[in-house]
Amino acid sequence: MPLFSFSHYKFFWRSSIAFAFFLTLLFIANSLTLQTQSTSTPCNKDPYKQLNLILNQNGTVTRPNKPPESPPAADPTLLVLSKDLPINQSKGTWARVYLPRAARDHRSKLPLLVFFHGGGFIFLSAASTIFHEFCFNMANDVAAVVASVEYRLTPEHRLPAAYDDAVEALHWIKANQDDWLRNLVDYSNVFLMGSSAGGNIAYNAGLRGAAADDDEIRKIKGLILVQPFFSGVRRTGSERRLVNEPHLALCVNDAIWELSLPVGVDRDHEYCNPTVGKGGARLEMIERLGWWVLVTGSGGDPLVDRQVELVKLMEKKGVRVVGHFTPGDYHGIQDTDPLKAKELYGVIKTFISALN
Ligand SMILES: *[C@@H]1O[C@H](CO)[C@@H](O)[C@H](O)[C@H]1NC(C)=O
Ligand SMILES: *[C@@H]1O[C@H](CO)[C@@H](O)[C@H](O)[C@H]1NC(C)=O
Repeated sequence: MPLFSFSHYKFFWRSSIAFAFFLTLLFIANSLTLQTQSTSTPCNKDPYKQLNLILNQNGTVTRPNKPPESPPAADPTLLVLSKDLPINQSKGTWARVYLPRAARDHRSKLPLLVFFHGGGFIFLSAASTIFHEFCFNMANDVAAVVASVEYRLTPEHRLPAAYDDAVEALHWIKANQDDWLRNLVDYSNVFLMGSSAGGNIAYNAGLRGAAADDDEIRKIKGLILVQPFFSGVRRTGSERRLVNEPHLALCVNDAIWELSLPVGVDRDHEYCNPTVGKGGARLEMIERLGWWVLVTGSGGDPLVDRQVELVKLMEKKGVRVVGHFTPGDYHGIQDTDPLKAKELYGVIKTFISALN
């Protein structure tokens, strides 16, 4: 795909954030041409085998894999300190807060990234080593305080449980007397952020809070959606083109939605498809709130066309949105490839700095 290179992008972004809109359009033009080349290959994966998830007779699920976890560390020689704080013990929610050295050295207040991890709403934790390392490095590179939220998983707790946990987490953070949060966070500079399913949570929790006239949510500065997990009943060009993509095959994607959405609704539910009804009142609300939105995506991710569609629709509604799309790359690449993660931190830092 003849898109644009990251280094060019970075250069242009420095000179003008508006140029990003143009680049987004380039990508849209590109992805539209891809739709015409799509095939109708069936998905040939067993979704539960791929997910390594066992559906039990009694309706529960078993997750045989226990991915590695890391403890928080408050050793002052580290570049970034971290600690776990309970949010709501009756739900098992908590947050791991990361404090970069920049905050401790200068005693200056930093932006806050309230982060929701990926894992298809079904798997993983704020303690998972991949997210611990991601947040640690992000706090350091972006120079932001990060609060990585442990939310309830599906199918034990179907959506909107995770959105409710996310809204509760933001309230809890704002009211918290913990000295890092109290003294070192600039509360005029808060972003809800997530990758994959976490991007979906950041988006829906933001809108859910805002629609409920929740002032704490309405006052956030914006959303940072990294490869956000969205879908819909109609297949996009990239979903059809990448139907058996090893990192996120289409039938795996569909199975995740079946296990996550409220029982009885389809993928055109607003939790899943943000473009349904042309975005409707939800995108208009983001426009009115004046939030800034960063959406990142990768050309090799089956979800990319839906993400591009969302950016396009937001632009049409007057939302202040920046799309950052790279060619190639797969879903979740920033969790396994440190160089890609580092590039992403640069994009986030530039986005946040341009707003201040
Ligand atoms: C459901 O079945 C699984 C696997 O057979 C078992 O481990 C679990 O305890 C059961 N849960 C309930 C609530 O019956
Ligand atoms: C914790 O969650 C429970 C169950 O949703 C709720 O009733 C309670 O108000 C929450 N506690 C706090 C301290 O927010």
